[in-house]
Amino acid sequence: MLRVLILHGPNLNLLGSREQSIYGTVTLDAIDASLSKLGDELGVALDIRQSNHEGELVSWIQEARSGYDGIIINPAAYTHTSVAIRDALAAVELPTIEVHLSNIHRREEFRRCSYVSGVALGQICGFGPTGYLLALRGLCEHLSSRTSKASTSRSQSMRQAGTRRNR
Ligand code: DQA
Repeated sequence: MLRVLILHGPNLNLLGSREQSIYGTVTLDAIDASLSKLGDELGVALDIRQSNHEGELVSWIQEARSGYDGIIINPAAYTHTSVAIRDALAAVELPTIEVHLSNIHRREEFRRCSYVSGVALGQICGFGPTGYLLALRGLCEHLSSRTSKASTSRSQSMRQAGTRRNR
């Protein structure tokens, strides 16, 4: 079974009441519940965590090196400041999807820079809570196409080895 780590960065615990004109009224608990439901449908095990602390997020990313197949992260404000989170993601080399509820490219200039994008498989922003579900579907498709490509090339090389032995 695939295992995906989902990380929410600082202030996302306030979703539902925080700057509703930008982030809407859906709470983080509701987002997590819809992710868990989709995880069940897709047959993926999810570990969902939120932290307001950069170091804690870094430690969780490092720990994901063993036992997880991919990461979905909304680094929130750390998107625009954290070389440490970027470096942790680069170090663990797990396929990572960056999510933002708002379209960070349409907002203040400082939000257009993401330190995470350069080490992510992709970025989804501007779709509100749906962005997390799109990210989970996209990551699962990516992981399963990678697995099926690997098993196709394994069986191709086994066939080739068999052909060589039979010559
Ligand atoms: C955010 C966008 C960030 O710029 C901001 O600091 C957040 C939330 C988003 O989901 O739209 O806290 O990551």
